[in-house]
Amino acid sequence: MRTFFMGAIAALAMGSVLMISQGISPAHADGHAVIEKRIAFMKNDILKPFLTIKGFVKDGKGSAADVAKAAAALSAAAGGIVADYPKGSGRGDHDAKVTRALPKIWEDWAGFEKAAGVLGAEAAKLASVAAGGDAGAIGAQFGMVGKNGCGGCHKPFRGEKVK
Ligand code: HEC
Repeated sequence: MRTFFMGAIAALAMGSVLMISQGISPAHADGHAVIEKRIAFMKNDILKPFLTIKGFVKDGKGSAADVAKAAAALSAAAGGIVADYPKGSGRGDHDAKVTRALPKIWEDWAGFEKAAGVLGAEAAKLASVAAGGDAGAIGAQFGMVGKNGCGGCHKPFRGEKVK
């Protein structure tokens, strides 16, 4: 009985030590948690509103008001992109199959932050253009969001996909 009790305590203690170490540094263990988190953020908070807008521009889906709403959400989310890039979480430290984040992100952190700011600004501009309701102007500004916003960061900071 006593040994069982001690064993149970030891197991509990080990469990909490594990939980604490995971809580403190999700980037360590193998570093994949933070990579998965930022990719999920990119898909849910960045790509989703982007596709809503694309649906309006390319296929006439939804309304200009939907575009304004999605563009405002995209602009707000842009500020969150850089949050999940601790040093050591890119290529060079991890297999190229796991992450497309290039070491240049940490060599030029200011440039990376600036690129996120450009997406924020282009998307905010799209929100105000969309409020005007002109489909042609919306299409043109959507092009800027893709080229300067997404492209302006992916080109220098994201590597080729590796399978
Ligand atoms: C400030 C930089 C930055 C901006 C702006 C940015 N991205 Fe990304 N994005 C990245 C990086 C870096 C990765 C790779 C992350 C990784 O693999 O760890 C990435 C990954 C992604 C992914 C995950 C799947 C994949 O192909 O790697 C999607 C989807 C994506 N971006 C879409 C977009 C779209 C759409 C926009 C514009 C609306 C955008 N991104 C703007 C930096 C950015």
